[in-house]
Amino acid sequence: MNVLILGSGGRENAFAWKIAKSSSCGQLYICPGNAGTRLIGKNINISLANFDEIKTFVLNKNIEMVIVGPEDPLVNGIYDFFKQDDLLKKISVIGPSKKGAQLEGSKKFAKEFMLRNSIPTAKYKSFDKSNLSDGFNFLESLESPYVLKADGLAAGKGVVIINDVEEAKKELSSMILDGKFGCASRTVVIEEFLDGIEMSVFILTDGESYKILPSAKDYKQIGENNTGLNTGGMGAISPVPFLDRFYLEKIENEIIKPTILGLKKESIEYVGFIFFGLINVNDEPKVIEYNVRMGDPETEVVIPRIKSDLLNLLKGIKDGTFSEKDLNVDDEVAATVMLTSGGYPEKYSTGYEISGVEDVDSSIVFHAGTKFENEKLITSGGRVMSITSFGKTMEDALKNSYESVSKINFKGKYYRTDIGFDL
Ligand code: AMP
Ligand code: GLY
Repeated sequence: MNVLILGSGGRENAFAWKIAKSSSCGQLYICPGNAGTRLIGKNINISLANFDEIKTFVLNKNIEMVIVGPEDPLVNGIYDFFKQDDLLKKISVIGPSKKGAQLEGSKKFAKEFMLRNSIPTAKYKSFDKSNLSDGFNFLESLESPYVLKADGLAAGKGVVIINDVEEAKKELSSMILDGKFGCASRTVVIEEFLDGIEMSVFILTDGESYKILPSAKDYKQIGENNTGLNTGGMGAISPVPFLDRFYLEKIENEIIKPTILGLKKESIEYVGFIFFGLINVNDEPKVIEYNVRMGDPETEVVIPRIKSDLLNLLKGIKDGTFSEKDLNVDDEVAATVMLTSGGYPEKYSTGYEISGVEDVDSSIVFHAGTKFENEKLITSGGRVMSITSFGKTMEDALKNSYESVSKINFKGKYYRTDIGFDL
């Protein structure tokens, strides 16, 4: 079967790497892809916002499955676009409907969904222009620190945590009245601060049944010891060592099952991945956020640990056999270390030549912000590549990744040397 993967990051490189191994995979296309995916399939250059052009391409190339990497096309309704088109509706889209994507596209929607379905999460209220002064009063009623979240998509930047109540009020005004995060912060969710260790659990679902994928923990901040600005993610480990069978069972009963049941009860069409961003508060798991896609760089450790044929599993979603299929996972630990451009996540330069990738033999190099231009591999983004390795222990896996990291060079190369430090 011909497959199209939408997206251009390390996540999509990991999907492509895995899908291409399937005996069912025909021609593989990645849109727009990067210098890593071009070695696995064919990169094509269509804007992910241009559904009509994607339609023409999919029909011309006899594509039977579209795997959607990032959240934007999902929140913009690519699933519904396919299902409502007579020529496209038989094509399998791996990703939820526009309504389902609201679990990530609107924090307010997600919180209301959790409340309706008794899914544990932080207490909250939401505010907009019409009840801004209630927002100030609500902040007064809470204890420091204060968590303010832009309702809509804000490229991972829409959450602000502030210690001082007066500062928090100013921030609330700036988000709602001055459009600090554009339209995304016209509505703001204020919630109780939760103190605990974060972890991520992922499932793949056909809307009826689900399979729990390997767990992972990512490292969001740019600096060592989790300091400095938030990034897309600087590294990840799978599995999460403290997430044992019993705790996972608790998460399954209190969070995963009610989520799937809630989607069904509310007639929300959902196929694809759900990423549960969780926090462990006194041994009680609570949902910090839903994402309607896989995480990046979590995918770069989760997908390599899946031994089963992923395309075969995804085909099961289409033909109704998903629940009968097995998901086998490698027992080894996977670790990934992200190489970034100096300056990221603030201003950084690109266009630098990358050397040494061909010398890496004990890791998988997943490209993110890379381009192949004038016969050269060059940097083209903030997160450049994610170096994944296996090991019997986390320490072994990390040692392999850091050894490989030392072989790859480009001007301004930066990475965290302490991935896994807290585990
Ligand atoms: P989100 O985009 O909702 O995942 O939020 C980004 C980050 O903010 C999370 O990964 C947490 O580290 C932090 N965060 C979000 N909500 C809370 C909360 N209620 N309490 C404490 N930290 C939070
Ligand atoms: N690594 C976090 C995310 O993909 O949202």
